[in-house]
Amino acid sequence: MNKKRTIIVSNRLPIRIEKNDGELKFIQSEGGLATGLGSIYKRDNNIWIGWPGYIPECEEEKEIIRKRLAELNLIPVFLTPEQIEGYYEGFSNEVLWPIFHYRLSYAIYKQENWQYYKEVNQAFCDAVWAEQPNDKDEIWIHDYQLMLLPRLIRQGDANISIGYFQHIPFPPDEIFRCIPWRDELLEGVLGADLIAFHTYNDTQHFLNAGTHILGLTIKNNCLQIGDRSVYIEVYPMGIDYDKFSALAENQEVQTRVKCIKEHYHNRKIVLSIDRLDYSKGILERLYAFENFLINWPQYNNQVVLYMLVVPSRDTVPQYKRLRDEIDRLVGHINAVYGTNEWTPIAYYYNTYPVEELSALYAAADVCLVTSLRDGMNLVCKEYVASKENKQGVLILSELAGASKELLDAIQVNPNAIDEISKAIVQALEMPKEEQRKRMDANIAIVKKFNINHWVRLFFNRLREIKHIQKNEM
Ligand code: G6P
Repeated sequence: MNKKRTIIVSNRLPIRIEKNDGELKFIQSEGGLATGLGSIYKRDNNIWIGWPGYIPECEEEKEIIRKRLAELNLIPVFLTPEQIEGYYEGFSNEVLWPIFHYRLSYAIYKQENWQYYKEVNQAFCDAVWAEQPNDKDEIWIHDYQLMLLPRLIRQGDANISIGYFQHIPFPPDEIFRCIPWRDELLEGVLGADLIAFHTYNDTQHFLNAGTHILGLTIKNNCLQIGDRSVYIEVYPMGIDYDKFSALAENQEVQTRVKCIKEHYHNRKIVLSIDRLDYSKGILERLYAFENFLINWPQYNNQVVLYMLVVPSRDTVPQYKRLRDEIDRLVGHINAVYGTNEWTPIAYYYNTYPVEELSALYAAADVCLVTSLRDGMNLVCKEYVASKENKQGVLILSELAGASKELLDAIQVNPNAIDEISKAIVQALEMPKEEQRKRMDANIAIVKKFNINHWVRLFFNRLREIKHIQKNEM
């Protein structure tokens, strides 16, 4: 009898391929999902299927990549430049991303991109079936780029076990309704047995979409598709707590922390780290910081906003525009308020290794997360995990999924510029005992509900659901 396998599917593989001087480099991703699922896909004959983020130059190179990846239990789905433009940039990131982040006016609906989205989802489906899964195996599909995949796979086997996790928000049904292809998208996801989100609100929005748009019957947290019950549930994703808490104590990281603090002459450091994205509220944060400099002049020369923006999707026009606007605003603030001795904002547009991120978390007096909408936000959890023995205050947008868990952060409405500025002052002036009390409460949550806990809970539930379904037959 074949052993049960786990097949993970996501748009990106947990590895990035780069070519330098004619040599292919396979770079392991440091992302939360890659770390969390690492212990699973590398085991036994489990696999992870996804796009390696690289266009091979010829068939021979494709084969070399295939072989190298196979040794790591990874199966590539290669995309053509047209597919990248239509499926990834055009549909995933110019329809689904803005709509799911409540940005109706940013959505660009093009029939040809929808065709590419369907085509690539089918290519992923073919890649899954090429692995010949059976109904003992478990397939875990990740995120909005692959909404049609659960149903496509289900068409090949009515009993196969399929979980779908969406890492970004699911909007209220009246927003989701605006997408011309909303029915197909919903029906696509509903091919799964368990559909999960980070927050309770997201699950309610999805259930409403099922009943209001498709007219499905709802029973508790289940939508009925014929005689099949599909479960819609909440599983807030965690981080690798032990990795981040240990890194912060590491000797080399500590040395780096000292360097960073000295570099900024022991001024207070307010830290922000995000991917370049309009959902992160980067401009709002800059306006709030300017407002803080104007209204609390006693802090001039005393505080630095260290802002790291990680390059992302810069071929999509909205992202290019955002980058230009950030450049302009940072330049304006530094030029108007800076002095010979002090530059208010240290802005970097770059990718840093995890050790450097850890040093920044450990060094920062305040971490400022101002997402206008965020499925979860893991940066705030990484900051908390880096503060076991250190002072620090977290300011967290109430519109990030993590705000439902980290109740002891200073929570702000990211559209209220004045509220963010006041929160910065509150954080800078917070007594040490209060900082400790709040941080310890947040640490307890991040430590307990870590990434392993998340993975375990999801799979246990998927198994339980398959069991219930069998008994119902
Ligand atoms: C978010 C999404 C992921 C995505 C990541 C990076 O976290 O939920 O699905 O992979 O952003 O974006 P990218 O477009 O570079 O894959």
